[in-house]
Amino acid sequence: PFSFLATALLAGLMFNTSAQAAKTYQVATDAAYAPFESLNEKKEAVGFDMDIMQAIAAKGGFQVKFINTPWEGIFASLNTGDRDMVISAVTITPERKQSMDFSEPYFEAKQLIAVGQSSKVTKLADLKGKKVGVQTGTTGDEVAQKLLGKTSPNIKRFESTPLAIKELQNGGIDAVIADNGVVINFVANNPSAKLKTIDDATFAKEYYGIAVKKGNKALVEQLNKGIAAIKADGTYDKIYKKYFGK
Ligand code: ARG
Repeated sequence: PFSFLATALLAGLMFNTSAQAAKTYQVATDAAYAPFESLNEKKEAVGFDMDIMQAIAAKGGFQVKFINTPWEGIFASLNTGDRDMVISAVTITPERKQSMDFSEPYFEAKQLIAVGQSSKVTKLADLKGKKVGVQTGTTGDEVAQKLLGKTSPNIKRFESTPLAIKELQNGGIDAVIADNGVVINFVANNPSAKLKTIDDATFAKEYYGIAVKKGNKALVEQLNKGIAAIKADGTYDKIYKKYFGK
């Protein structure tokens, strides 16, 4: 029986090498950030990021498996080797670049404020002295820290952005700061929540990238090639249109 098993394993190995079986990468995403990533009825990750990643994988001849992963600890999963990549509307920041590597940018974003429709807030500075909800460790959290101070008790941190928005609807906080695409998507799709969006002149451009373990040059190269290819052949534009129109 052992030798049978050994033979079977060996045959499997040989088959794999000769057929060049497509590699499957484990891809982490915090699937609570529509329209970039959310879970469908079957609990599968769907959204703009998934379509982009699948299109890149098709170009590179590899496969991807999306694994819903809490934002907190999502980057650590690269170092432990549990995940090969993170695609999760991740903003490329100088700080993050120190501990991981990124693909070329694939999307431009910025922050946006959500408040109740009757709120008098018209700009970021109006949030001084107010309770501001953010998803812990996001660029929205950074904006809130700059405005209110790192340790301000007025920064209310949540595990996910939907939880922050829920608290805003409940009246427990005065505003939420998150990525523009997500805020616009929520406000548009939930008119009964009676929220509006507030932009601010100080909000800087942000760029999303796919994160990999620091030093994984081969994978970054593969991703960059794929991004260039889907931009060149119209696939990117098609996906963009599907989620953002125009
Ligand atoms: N772009 C922001 C950041 O990188 C927020 C990303 C949150 N993504 C998510 N899937 N929850 O900090």
